[in-house]
Amino acid sequence: LNHLLTTNELKVEEIYQILTDARKFADGMKWKPESQMFTANLFFEPSTRTKSSFEVAERRLGLEVIPFEVLTSSVQKGETLYDTVKTLESIGVNAIVIRHDQDRYFDELVGKVNIPIINGGDGCGHHPTQSLLDLLTIYQEFGRFAGLKIAIIGDIRHSRVARSNADVLTRLGAEVIYSGPEDWFDNRSLSLSRFRPIDEAIRESDVVMLLRVQHERHQQKGNFTANEYHKQYGLTIEREKLMKPGSIIMHPAPVNRNVEIADSLVECGRSRIFKQMENGVFVRMAALKRSLESLKGGNNYEAAYSELK
Ligand code: CP
Repeated sequence: LNHLLTTNELKVEEIYQILTDARKFADGMKWKPESQMFTANLFFEPSTRTKSSFEVAERRLGLEVIPFEVLTSSVQKGETLYDTVKTLESIGVNAIVIRHDQDRYFDELVGKVNIPIINGGDGCGHHPTQSLLDLLTIYQEFGRFAGLKIAIIGDIRHSRVARSNADVLTRLGAEVIYSGPEDWFDNRSLSLSRFRPIDEAIRESDVVMLLRVQHERHQQKGNFTANEYHKQYGLTIEREKLMKPGSIIMHPAPVNRNVEIADSLVECGRSRIFKQMENGVFVRMAALKRSLESLKGGNNYEAAYSELK
């Protein structure tokens, strides 16, 4: 059963298979399951991009999407996540997408449920489809990962994207550096030796990947006003001028305009922020295909790996 829980547990070949399929979907590939299949999207935390793009991906693959809203479900009567998923499985749902505020919520499901779980984000943990759509966006731009320098900048400690991306990009041969407020760095799982002053990180990198300031995950009020953060750690109009020719701007969004990035840069020529969102649909189509195909066994990812290379 092919769950998609974290990118760390995907082999390089599997990553390339998903990216290859995503690229083919972007080029118009058609794939549909042989029989009618149902999916459900369980979002216990707010979402615009992930939820909507999974739904578009599911509909494009001809899947039946079961409407599920936490606020009008029996979760409100105290039903556990496990019982909710087992219920949907019993009813005939074939794959489930879950976003949850608890880190590694999926540990209580794996091995006990018989349908694939696709992680749409767990607490401060992982967001594998965001990482994969970031990878697709970088690959489309540069045609490779090896030798690229990627700066991940901002609220790293609270980001479920930062650690996944750092791991996967390093495994694919890129050099990852970090910047932002040092107090928001995660020196338990990331190396402080890769931390750089903001201007240096921006000047040196092929990809400037900004992270949202996640006020909702901060225990106490931040040390900065929005304006102070922007001046000290944001991609200001002046800092964008330091960027290398051909380098690009990314951000998982939603964006705090004029905090992480100047308003006018969100849609500038270097920005791939809306391209990332577009790619989200194709990556999610590929992730759903991979999970649904695993219900009948078999994935030929070595062939896809050589095809993308
Ligand atoms: N990037 C992202 O996960 O956005 P949403 O929270 O809107 O899904």
